[in-house]
Amino acid sequence: MVEDFQARVHKANVQVHRVEAKYYELIHGEIYSKGEQKRINSALKRIDKLIDTNQKEALDFGAGTGNLTGKLLHLGYRVTALDISAEMCSLLKKKYKRYVDEKKLRVINSPIEDVSFDKGEFDLITCYSVLHHLPNYETVLQKLSVFLRKGGVMYLDHESAFYSDKPNKSERFVRNIYFKCNWLLSTSYVKIKRIPSVDFLDYSLSDYWASDEHHTDHAKIASIFKKENFGFFIRIDYHSTRTWLFNPTFYMYKYFCQPDMTLWIAKK
Ligand SMILES: C[S@@+](CC[C@H](N)C(=O)[O-])C[C@H]1O[C@@H](n2cnc3c(N)ncnc32)[C@H](O)[C@@H]1O
Repeated sequence: MVEDFQARVHKANVQVHRVEAKYYELIHGEIYSKGEQKRINSALKRIDKLIDTNQKEALDFGAGTGNLTGKLLHLGYRVTALDISAEMCSLLKKKYKRYVDEKKLRVINSPIEDVSFDKGEFDLITCYSVLHHLPNYETVLQKLSVFLRKGGVMYLDHESAFYSDKPNKSERFVRNIYFKCNWLLSTSYVKIKRIPSVDFLDYSLSDYWASDEHHTDHAKIASIFKKENFGFFIRIDYHSTRTWLFNPTFYMYKYFCQPDMTLWIAKK
């Protein structure tokens, strides 16, 4: 039964990301907007300094087209980038071919659930917008903790909290206005820029842990860091802007609604 669920979620992810891969960076304004890129860059730079006796070995899982991988390479890491989607892996390899040739980048096309590394192989393990895609993110995080060196850091950036506590009526109302405006802005932007639409894709199974009914659970993630004896961990909740074009209702959303993203920095 569990096997079956895992296989179905994996299959859904392969299908969705096969289509998304080619347009990925165009359709994800919430990731590739200037503001979000700046936030990620500065977080990674701070984390880089946090690692004890850093040997600059990183694992980026669910790497996609290399949002984090590229930044880690620029920070001087040798990166193992892993993704379940063959199309994402192939784009990633093409984009960072120089680093592949220089043996600074290894790309693995596999579900994260199926791989194993040496104990303490990595100084830094990262993922961005991946946890909600994993059939069992708890087991994965627990398994990955073993591959992290003592003094190393785990960086998890993920969709989360607006699903965590049930939004009340007024929050739902504000969220709807914000989302509607975002949708309008994105639709116009997509039309002007002739970006293909992927509205036909069904994300219900691929993005399993991103719904009001079942969502990533902060308490469970924190308990893994405790169980695996991490020295410290912090959780930073934040609101994402979610579009290329700035949506003025964002301030209202930020004021009234729970943050929709979470960053965990956990040092072993
Ligand atoms: C929303 S994308 C994020 C990509 C990238 N991290 C970024 O920041 O743009 C999620 C990625 O996770 C990958 N993925 C989903 N399930 C996975 C799994 N079980 N193992 C490895 N990768 C997975 C998808 O193929 C996709 O590339």
